[in-house]
Amino acid sequence: MIDSPAFSPNEGSGPGVSRETPQAPAPTAALDVSRETSPTPASSIIIAVINQKGGVGKTTSAVNLSASLALKGYRALLLDLDPQGNAATSLGIDRYAEGIATSHDLLLSPQDHPQPVSLGTNKPDLYPGSVSLIRADIDLLALGERRDFVLRDALASLAPAEPYDFIIIDSPPSLGILTLNILIASHHVLIPIQCEYLALEGLTMLLETLEEIRRAHNPALSVLGCLITMSDLRTNLSQQVVADVRTHLGERVFNTMIPRTVRLSECPSHGQSIFDYDRWGAGARSYDALTREILTRLGLPEKKRSAS
Ligand SMILES: Nc1ncnc2c1ncn2[C@@H]1O[C@H](COP(=O)(O)OP(=O)(O)OP(=O)(O)O)[C@@H](O)[C@H]1O
Ligand SMILES: [Mg+2]
Repeated sequence: MIDSPAFSPNEGSGPGVSRETPQAPAPTAALDVSRETSPTPASSIIIAVINQKGGVGKTTSAVNLSASLALKGYRALLLDLDPQGNAATSLGIDRYAEGIATSHDLLLSPQDHPQPVSLGTNKPDLYPGSVSLIRADIDLLALGERRDFVLRDALASLAPAEPYDFIIIDSPPSLGILTLNILIASHHVLIPIQCEYLALEGLTMLLETLEEIRRAHNPALSVLGCLITMSDLRTNLSQQVVADVRTHLGERVFNTMIPRTVRLSECPSHGQSIFDYDRWGAGARSYDALTREILTRLGLPEKKRSAS
């Protein structure tokens, strides 16, 4: 069942990506614009991949979007704030290895300047998730009034040698204090929607939560787009779900859909992004198309122009 008819594409006041977004300022100016409206002083564009529903493709999308941005020359940081730590595992990083700083360290001990894992040239940097994030809500609660702004302040304290163009946050499947921190620290959300029966269930609550946060704490927050994942257009069910999602969410839905492919489900177990595992397959091509669509929505060039 679709839980609300409230997702009209013409809805002006909702938390949706605005109609103006595709005509955003000139490419190089866009990063500056985001700095002006940024919840943090950093110049990075912060995108949270979020949906409180489990298993919808958040981690797969965060991993492959950050990998794709890095391949296009953008400096990208992947911040895994899910205690399951799947993003790190998906990229072949042992988050328990000695000396590895985790996103928990960044969140709660930014004064120690924990350094992210460098995955190499044209690859994102990474703060892996950690099991200690299971009690992050309790740890954050103990911080009193600051509790909702801890991530925003931690990201503002980041001082990489070369600033990140993008920070991509992989979120847990819940709407607790940690997720609230993510939404207050971010400029945009990307909402993966699994192409299945009841695909839109729970989305009303998520969009209402985004709207509340936008009003109360973070006016810069916008829905960059909703991403249909794991589609299989050979089936009637998939076609019907895609039609429903597009009817109810309109322009918020990316044109790009991520198909269900065996390669995308295999690559985490090989510790590789889809671009390393199956560069020319349907999965890589779809995440490449998504990245190009996002860059267009943000008014940024398909390849980062060099500073000179
Ligand atoms: N397009 C796809 N084709 C095939 N399998 C996929 C695809 N996208 C994701 N999967 C698989 O579906 C499962 C769930 O995906 P993923 O871990 O990205 O979801 P999630 O929203 O991050 O889950 P959680 O809420 O538990 O964090 C994983 O096993 C993943 O490999
Ligand atoms: Mg996940």
